[in-house]
Amino acid sequence: MIAQGSGVDQQNIGLKKVGGFCRIPGVKVIAIANQKGGVGKTSTAVNLAAALAARGKDVLLIDVDSQANASSALGFSVAGEQSLYQALIGNCRLEDLIISANRRHLSLVPSHMDLSGVEVELTQGGEHTSCMQRALAGLRENSAFDYVFLDTPPSLGVLMTASLCASDEVLTPMQCEFLSLEGLSKILFVIEQIRDSGIQPSIIHEGILMTMYNNTNLANQVIDQVQENLPDKIYETVIPRSVRVAEAPSFGRTVLEHDPEGTAAWAYKNAAKEFLRRHR
Ligand SMILES: Nc1ncnc2c1ncn2[C@@H]1O[C@H](COP(=O)(O)OP(=O)(O)OP(=O)(O)O)[C@@H](O)[C@H]1O
Ligand SMILES: [Mg+2]
Repeated sequence: MIAQGSGVDQQNIGLKKVGGFCRIPGVKVIAIANQKGGVGKTSTAVNLAAALAARGKDVLLIDVDSQANASSALGFSVAGEQSLYQALIGNCRLEDLIISANRRHLSLVPSHMDLSGVEVELTQGGEHTSCMQRALAGLRENSAFDYVFLDTPPSLGVLMTASLCASDEVLTPMQCEFLSLEGLSKILFVIEQIRDSGIQPSIIHEGILMTMYNNTNLANQVIDQVQENLPDKIYETVIPRSVRVAEAPSFGRTVLEHDPEGTAAWAYKNAAKEFLRRHR
């Protein structure tokens, strides 16, 4: 794992393994999931995790997408031998893949190119519903983390299913666009199926975070519609469309580091506050 050029502290990048966990029961595993692509999953996973870490919560972000966008957004590019794939097929412990994200209270399990091969292998072995659960079992028993975020890929494939089956909660970033509403019902249906099948009976759909808001009639109508149908689910905080969010990953920075006083940074800070209120 090597660091890309970035504005964040580059020392000890990627090499510090976080070991010696002390037991704090009740780590929450949260999948940031929406099978629709480009809706702000990774931006939300990275910036919400960073905002919670800035508030002193110990957060582990697991990059479950072979695109490795969350890893590079934090200033890490793919290298190294061990990978999440190895943990999913039981060849190594997930705990051994955890590295410091070079931000206080924030750790990362980076993605790896070979994650794209996991789909075939796990489906053939019939293990796609249990592999992530198994990989996370050690963390659940013995973890220093308050929250584990899974940044999931944009499809209802093996990695997404594996992530949902291992999660306590699902947070869905949703773009303020009409077609997003269709995607939402699909993911709600899948969560219901996972709960009813008994694979993860306690999974809940925690919330919906509206992203890329740009104060148009359409965006306001979509928000109104979600509010009307799922009033308890929708976050009050709305993430505005901001070029700062889009450009931050190219510097290996979160938007909180890149433009700390900008509207998007404040929105993610407010989303973190709201997240904590909802988890009180
Ligand atoms: N609030 C925002 N304002 C402007 N651009 C944004 C915002 N949030 C995300 N983006 C940009 O939109 C694109 C998609 O965002 P992101 O990668 O977070 O979505 P995703 O759902 O993770 O995508 P994928 O489905 O490919 O994993 C990226 O280029 C990102 O920088
Ligand atoms: Mg993504």
